[in-house]
Amino acid sequence: MSLVQNVTDEEMNSLTQSILTRYGIDFTCYEPKSLRRRIIRVLNKFDLSSIHELWVHFLRDTKFVHVFMNEISVGMTSMFRDPILWKRLKARMLKYPSDKTISIWHAGCSTGEEVFSFGILLKETNLQERAKAFASDFNQNALTEAKAGVYHKIKMIENETNYREYNAFQNFGKYYTSDGKYAIMNQDLIKHVNFSYHNLITDAYPQGFDVIFCRNVMI
Ligand SMILES: C[S@@+](CC[C@H](N)C(=O)[O-])C[C@H]1O[C@@H](n2cnc3c(N)ncnc32)[C@H](O)[C@@H]1O
Repeated sequence: MSLVQNVTDEEMNSLTQSILTRYGIDFTCYEPKSLRRRIIRVLNKFDLSSIHELWVHFLRDTKFVHVFMNEISVGMTSMFRDPILWKRLKARMLKYPSDKTISIWHAGCSTGEEVFSFGILLKETNLQERAKAFASDFNQNALTEAKAGVYHKIKMIENETNYREYNAFQNFGKYYTSDGKYAIMNQDLIKHVNFSYHNLITDAYPQGFDVIFCRNVMI
């Protein structure tokens, strides 16, 4: 079967409207070009030749919507992504009132790099014991990886470079152990974190957070 190269605006609208009506999932807040690219990728991955065939697949396989959501979500992430931001955040957290607990939400946490980054920051500012965090995503596979905190050494090169820009004075290596091609993050860094499925489009928003991360999610 030849690869699908494009889908029209009409087809995109019809698919997103059908998904909204049937599942209550609204894709209108996502960046359209990137959504289109990912839908084309799904068509080719599942050997479907058109949006019509894709929709038939939705109707015949009731679990397909979960597979589709996992495929559509972009998990690209890294530790201390945008290091300058983390540097500024650290400076702010150092001024955090000494008698206050910290409630954090990592909305769209992907495979956990952001959660481990803040875990490290909380440790380095002696705030972890006062912190409680909720880390959520609608991609179950990503959540499983986030909890495990096992990252390929190739990814760790970028993580380490970012870390050094954020904090040139400490050794990033103390936060993980090596196992062949993988780095296993210290679980202690996320002992204050509860990971759970949450869909930002369809689920009610939990309340009462002091810090909310919602970065690079609707892209
Ligand atoms: C590019 S990653 C960003 C990860 C991290 N926040 C960062 O900035 O590095 C985007 C994540 O948002 C999640 N996501 C996208 N739409 C979502 C939604 N409606 N509800 C929950 N998570 C969502 C994706 O599954 C993906 O893991």
